[in-house]
Amino acid sequence: MELTWFGHSCVLLKGSKKVLIDPFFPAGKVDASPDIVAVTHGHDDHMGVAAEFGVPVVAINEVAKYLRSKGVEAEDMNIGGTITVDGVRFTMTPALHSSWIEEAGIGCNGGGAAGFVIRMDGTAVYHAGDTALFSDMSLIGELYHPSVALLPIGGRFTMGPEEAMIAARMIGAPRVIPIHYNTWPPIVQDPREFKKALERTTDCKVLILEPGETARI
Ligand code: NI
Ligand code: MN
Repeated sequence: MELTWFGHSCVLLKGSKKVLIDPFFPAGKVDASPDIVAVTHGHDDHMGVAAEFGVPVVAINEVAKYLRSKGVEAEDMNIGGTITVDGVRFTMTPALHSSWIEEAGIGCNGGGAAGFVIRMDGTAVYHAGDTALFSDMSLIGELYHPSVALLPIGGRFTMGPEEAMIAARMIGAPRVIPIHYNTWPPIVQDPREFKKALERTTDCKVLILEPGETARI
């Protein structure tokens, strides 16, 4: 499977299907021509242009309901559940965060925030979404054995590097890719410091990608 990071939380998984997660493109929209889009929560910097691809969007009930009201095909689910779309398995994991859908006027409640374990072609990838550290992350490791964990390290709105180190240890994935940092000044971090600290204390390898860069996983 190939994994491309477009910056912030936006990731494309390319295996037998193309799955685009959190399609907010900090450097401008990329036509990743996905087969499926997955949205972790209703915030603008995650839902992004999810409605514009003309493909099914996997999201929590409230976000799915909102998207349907805009004429978008949506697969609704909720935390703890698993669905299969086009042969790709999506398990919705908890995230300690909020969710709000911005719209002219006041907007609406996006339900809860989530993460995903996505299983395709025998590989499991954990995308944590926006979240604080929570100890049940160890269950995600125990249950799904992800090969790669995508973890926010930006701080302020999510975990910072210190918490993400504990998260990585609890999940136990052999590879960690930091996300949700350096998009804007409030979430500036040095991913090399994170890499150094995590690799010094665990067997985990940290993969630092440039926006637009692809890794084979
Ligand atoms: Ni958020
Ligand atoms: Mn965010």
